[in-house]
Amino acid sequence: MKHEVTYCGLTFEPYISRDKIDARIAELGRAISEDCRDKFPLLICVLNGAFPFASDLFRNINIDAEIAFIRLKSYEGTTTTGLPKEVLGLSDDIKGRTVIVVEDIIDTGHTMHNLLNTLREKEPAEIKIATLLFKPESLVRNIKPDYVGFEIPNKFIIGFGLDIDGHARNLNDIYILKDPE
Ligand code: IMP
Ligand code: MG
Repeated sequence: MKHEVTYCGLTFEPYISRDKIDARIAELGRAISEDCRDKFPLLICVLNGAFPFASDLFRNINIDAEIAFIRLKSYEGTTTTGLPKEVLGLSDDIKGRTVIVVEDIIDTGHTMHNLLNTLREKEPAEIKIATLLFKPESLVRNIKPDYVGFEIPNKFIIGFGLDIDGHARNLNDIYILKDPE
C-alpha cells in the first residue's frame, strides 16, 4: 500500500497505481497500432511532463513509428494561459505525416489549442491527440483527444511526469491533492 506524499507543503494521496497506468498505456498502444497501421505515425512528445507517458506509449506501439520531442515556451511575465506559446525543437518535417501529439494532461485545453494551431501550419496529413489524463470539467477549448488514459475530476495531481513546481515528476504512481480535513 502506497502512502501519502508531501510536496511544497501540500499532501497528496495515491490515486492511480503504476499497474493501472501500465495496463491502460498498453491498451492505448494497441489502439494506435491498429488505427495507424501503414501510416508510420510521428509521435510528438510535449516536454517536460509527457516524457514518461510517451516513452511507455511508444514502446507499446507494435507498428513502425517515430518519435520527436518539443517544448512549449510560455511568454514570460504573464500569468494568463490563453496566450500563444512558442514551440521549441520541432526540426522534423511533418508535412503529409500522421502526427500524434502526446501530452501528460489536458486541463483547460489552451496549451493543446495553441499547439494544434502551430502544427497545422506545417501541413501534416492528420493530427491525433494522445493524453494520459483529461479533465473534461475544466475544458474551455474545443479539443477532442483521440486517446485518453484516464478522465479525472478537476483536481490537482502529480507523479508519472506531472509536477508541482518541478517536484514529483519521478513518482511512479499518480497522486491527487488531498482535500483539507
Ligand atoms: P491547459 O493548457 O490548461 O490544458 O494545461 C495544460 C498544462 O497545465 C499541462 O501540460 C500541465 O503542465 C499543467 N497542468 C494542468 N493540470 C495539472 C495537474 O493536475 N497537475 C500538474 N500539472 C497540471
Ligand atoms: Mg504539459
